[in-house]
Amino acid sequence: MPWTDALAWVKARGPWVLPELDPDVAVPEYYREPFHAYESGNLCWEAAFEGEIASRAVGARNFPAAGADGELAFRGAFDDALGELGAAVPRGGAVIDFGCASDISTRRIAANWPGAASVLGLDLSPHFVAVGRRLHELAAPRRRPRRRRKAARAVAGSGSTIGAASPARRRGSGGGAARGRAAG
Ligand SMILES: C[S@@+](CC[C@H](N)C(=O)[O-])C[C@H]1O[C@@H](n2cnc3c(N)ncnc32)[C@H](O)[C@@H]1O
Repeated sequence: MPWTDALAWVKARGPWVLPELDPDVAVPEYYREPFHAYESGNLCWEAAFEGEIASRAVGARNFPAAGADGELAFRGAFDDALGELGAAVPRGGAVIDFGCASDISTRRIAANWPGAASVLGLDLSPHFVAVGRRLHELAAPRRRPRRRRKAARAVAGSGSTIGAASPARRRGSGGGAARGRAAG
């Protein structure tokens, strides 16, 4: 995994500003514990900056036969399971991605359910929210003049809410705003 390059690429996409915290959101004790080798758990920039490359590493470890593309197999397995469970989004419906971290799963949901009018990511970490919003902006398809893109909006969030994704990317793209650029 091109960890160092990916991390440097994400960090350079700033400036980084934390979203305003919603005073009504109570952060549970477990969430303040050290987690994934981060002293502050997910409540720090390092965890948020490394989220995308860490996801690729997890995919590669869990699906070694797929090598560096293990994340696609990993996330594809979730997509398949959702399909087998009968998940469906009515045209014009809304999807909420609870625990969306830095937007990878949110982008994937948006791509897989193009009939959804909106897809909203929700996470308790304002750091992940900030990085997710930025990666969402960077991953958004370029707007074409004179063509209005339905539901292409970014929803402002608080400490517990996030950005939104537009239903526009093709199935199987697997997220990774940082992926192509960091590696290439
Ligand atoms: C395993 S990660 C999943 C990330 C993302 N869905 C993906 O597929 O890449 C779980 C996420 O849930 C978030 N989370 C944990 N507890 C939460 C809570 N009580 N409310 C909102 N988000 C929470 C964490 O911050 C973390 O980003």
